[in-house]
Amino acid sequence: MENTDKIITEETNLVIPEHVALILDGNGRWAKKRGLPRTAGHKQGCVTVEQTVEDAARLGIKYLTVYGFSTENWKRSVEEVGALMQLFRYYLKRLLKIAKSNNVRVKMIGDRTRFDRDIIEGIDTLERETKNNTGMTFVIAVNYGGRDEITRAIRRMTADCKEGRLDSGSVTEQVVSSYLDTADIPDPDLLIRTSGEQRLSNFLLWQLAYSEFYFTPVAWPDFNKKIFLNVSHGKGVTLKVMLKNEIYINQDLQDMCMRLLILHYTLKQERNITNHAKIGRAHV
Ligand code: IPE
Ligand code: IPE
Ligand code: MG
Repeated sequence: MENTDKIITEETNLVIPEHVALILDGNGRWAKKRGLPRTAGHKQGCVTVEQTVEDAARLGIKYLTVYGFSTENWKRSVEEVGALMQLFRYYLKRLLKIAKSNNVRVKMIGDRTRFDRDIIEGIDTLERETKNNTGMTFVIAVNYGGRDEITRAIRRMTADCKEGRLDSGSVTEQVVSSYLDTADIPDPDLLIRTSGEQRLSNFLLWQLAYSEFYFTPVAWPDFNKKIFLNVSHGKGVTLKVMLKNEIYINQDLQDMCMRLLILHYTLKQERNITNHAKIGRAHV
């Protein structure tokens, strides 16, 4: 999709990215700062995910991908992994309700085979029961690693070549994309990582080739409130938007947070539009 095709909301003049990818980070540090166990940070983080799904759907974002558990996260303590699995179980059920009431389609990427049977069933149910929803697609990356995804894709591709279903000479970038977990999902336009780290941690290595990156020092459980202050601090641009959209000024800061990120993205797009046009930015 070209920049010119992106949805520009009349109300705000914001360019809504089609696909936002999120590395939610900092749950543990958020809890530690408050003298709480890491699990408390994960619980609060889940609340933020829920709110973000609703915000993103309301804003007209078509795809929201959230990195929930990496292939490397199994190396955490048995207690923490166990607590994360329990939370996941709970949210699989809760998400079904949220997805239904927001017309959201849910899809999981990553290698689900490593999870317990009941979790795999929960994932299958969630995908099956929301597959006809026509609103936003919420993609959850669990037991996901970019290298693992590419390795699994190569395994399937070589097997298909061996059995004559695929001709190695005709493998293109599009063919590779179609073997990834994200086949049928456009590449992210915007990547957000919270909590100050500026690395990919094995997230969507192939798909993020051309995305804009946005890093914020705010811990994930605080994402909604503090990002507002952070993005708006000392920058005239925010004031402009607030004046234009008076209605949001004293309203729900959660809603503002996503809007301001989109504003940041809009401004970047405006600056980069000539460059992108020149190099012919490619979207799947
Ligand atoms: C992100 O928060 C959640 C998961 C990776 C499951 P962290 O648990 O990584 O929190 P920090 O980075 O230790 O603060
Ligand atoms: C990245 O966060 C993975 C997820 C958000 C699920 P981590 O906190 O696990 O990443 P590193 O280990 O700091 O790179
Ligand atoms: Mg972390």
